[in-house]
Amino acid sequence: MKKIIAACMATALLAVTVGCGSQTTAGQNNTQAVQQTAGNGAEQPGTSLKKDSKILVVYFSYADNEKLSDGVDASARASYQLDNGKPIGNTGLVAKWIAQETKADTYSIKTVNPYPNDYDAAVKQGKQEVENGTKPELQNQPLDLKDYDVIFVGYPNWWGDMPMAMYSFFDSQDFAGKTIIPFCTSGGSGFGNTVDAIQKLEPQATVTQGIAIHANDVKDSKNQVTQWLSGLNLNQSK
Ligand SMILES: Cc1cc2nc3c(=O)[nH]c(=O)nc-3n(C[C@H](O)[C@H](O)[C@H](O)COP(=O)(O)O)c2cc1C
Repeated sequence: MKKIIAACMATALLAVTVGCGSQTTAGQNNTQAVQQTAGNGAEQPGTSLKKDSKILVVYFSYADNEKLSDGVDASARASYQLDNGKPIGNTGLVAKWIAQETKADTYSIKTVNPYPNDYDAAVKQGKQEVENGTKPELQNQPLDLKDYDVIFVGYPNWWGDMPMAMYSFFDSQDFAGKTIIPFCTSGGSGFGNTVDAIQKLEPQATVTQGIAIHANDVKDSKNQVTQWLSGLNLNQSK
């Protein structure tokens, strides 16, 4: 509930195009999101994907970027998506399903300085970062994109935008010639303008249509994700 209130607050304050009030019907929301296009550089799903593409799933989730205080059992939080009892987050869960279905590698983006364990404080910090354009420093985890042709890129909507850590990540990598397939989870804002933002950040990449899933629906959305993937015509033999 706390997350939804925060999401509605964020949505109202940022005047993003899709209001929380109109987003209570999961099916409608998801359908809208799937049909969203990426702007001028966007391709229809599947049109530019090579056979035998090597696939990577990159994602950012609060669950992997939260500072856990001593004695805090994050897995006990009702709002968290869990994976074998460990927090994985909404975006992390979708990332896991995509990786399973496409036999992809996964890469979780992590900041050097974790976000506060207190959710409201994390929401506030995220707002300050978006407003100030502050790009947090990322942990130096090895990643060589030359090994991959197709890269799913997932993130939660933070204040109508991508978390600023995503901007740090795009700064740190060269996506020229790659196909980027975005996915997003949110409390109702969906992608906002983030797909166009990715295309602007990576003008030499092909950014396809993606999928946005409401936070409330994530745990029941595995079939929807699988169906979406099968429509992308990815070659899944790796
Ligand atoms: C800092 C912060 C800002 C957020 N801003 C929005 C927002 O503007 N619109 C929205 O719909 N949801 C917003 N949310 C909710 C998240 O997008 C949503 O809960 C998402 O599914 C979380 O994914 P995760 O568990 O992978 O981090 C925000 C959450 C946080 C922590």
